[in-house]
Amino acid sequence: MYDINKIREDFPILSREVYGKPLVYLDNAATTQKPLCVLDAMRDEYLNVNANVHRGVHYLSQQATDLHEAAREKVRQFINAKKIEEIVFTRGTTEAINLVASSFCESQMKAGDEVLVTEMEHHSNIVSWQLQAQRLGIVVKHLPITDDGRLVGCNDITDYITPRTKLISIAHVSNVLGTINPVEDIIKIAHEHDIPVLVDGAQSAPHMKIDVQAMDCDFFAFSGHKMYGPTGIGVLYGKEEWLEKLPPYQGGGEMIDKVTWEKTTFERLPFKFEAGTPDYVATHGLAKAIDYMTSVGLDFIEAHEKELTRYCMEQLQTIDGMHIYGPVVSGSPVDNKDAVVSFNVGDIHHLDMGTLLDRLGIAVRTGHHCAQPLMDRLGISGTVRASFALYNTKEEIDALVAGIRRVSQMF
Ligand SMILES: Cc1ncc(COP(=O)(O)O)c(C=O)c1O
Repeated sequence: MYDINKIREDFPILSREVYGKPLVYLDNAATTQKPLCVLDAMRDEYLNVNANVHRGVHYLSQQATDLHEAAREKVRQFINAKKIEEIVFTRGTTEAINLVASSFCESQMKAGDEVLVTEMEHHSNIVSWQLQAQRLGIVVKHLPITDDGRLVGCNDITDYITPRTKLISIAHVSNVLGTINPVEDIIKIAHEHDIPVLVDGAQSAPHMKIDVQAMDCDFFAFSGHKMYGPTGIGVLYGKEEWLEKLPPYQGGGEMIDKVTWEKTTFERLPFKFEAGTPDYVATHGLAKAIDYMTSVGLDFIEAHEKELTRYCMEQLQTIDGMHIYGPVVSGSPVDNKDAVVSFNVGDIHHLDMGTLLDRLGIAVRTGHHCAQPLMDRLGISGTVRASFALYNTKEEIDALVAGIRRVSQMF
């Protein structure tokens, strides 16, 4: 059963104080806190196992390799990929998207071909493609959004597809609006036009069950640090047929089969895309984070966070001058919004609100949230963002609401 007090004990940082006030950590979309089991496992690996993976004949190297590859299998199960070869370790979502942008555009696109993203993307799903646009002359187009932060035309996405559209790359969940995009519908339509789809799962993998086979996405990217794992590790899932077609992203050790001055051949999947020493301690940590999430239960996590989102929206709406961005949520369960609530209050600048909330011990994010084109669309410079994790409570939302009221009275 979901015992929130017991869960919070797994995250000692949650019981610390800042400025003499209990910490209320509501910046989980930026990064989550790490449970003891993740920290212990990583410390234990450095203390007792540490050795470079894949290339050693000795005992420690074998043991480290086993842990590293077991983590890959754990990730495969977590997202229900068909094959272990489809799981590529990266530094995070950003690197995963850059990998596809570089390798896909270079091998599958010509000048004038188009990549379609949305108006609500994180910069990593915009700038990665813009870099390829500069390099190769491809064109980055975007699907517009409605005033309440949903995709326009998701049922009629064909309006935005042209004969030159070669890839669609979309956020599963917006890191600003919390909008859950109908990725399955989009993928179905895209596939009818033979267009592959990359799903940016940075804000969905921490909160809901992911099944890449059921979703039928061609690529799926996510970050370990946003789902209770360590920083510096993430995952690119790619359908085997696509990963086979794409050239390597970076060159170096681990990714080669044979190197001569004349010609180099590459390792089999997934190693072709994993140049250099991997962060094998972080992969082990990620596996422990997945174990942790699984032991709490993905269904519990999803239901708990949706209830927090609903409660937060309801409570925020009682504050004068409150403007919440993204889909309006009424009733429960919340179907199209997840774990992220962005808002502004009257004329109070988001940075002032965030700074004053911080003095009350409440950690929220302020600013453009790496989504400047979305801010332009909304006609604002930034928002205050509260985002939730499995350990947050309604009491913390009450503290946020009381804090906002207090700050509002100062202006
Ligand atoms: C939707 C989305 N995509 C991509 C990223 C980039 O993730 P990372 O910085 O872990 O690579 C983030 C991070 O906030 C995000 O929210």
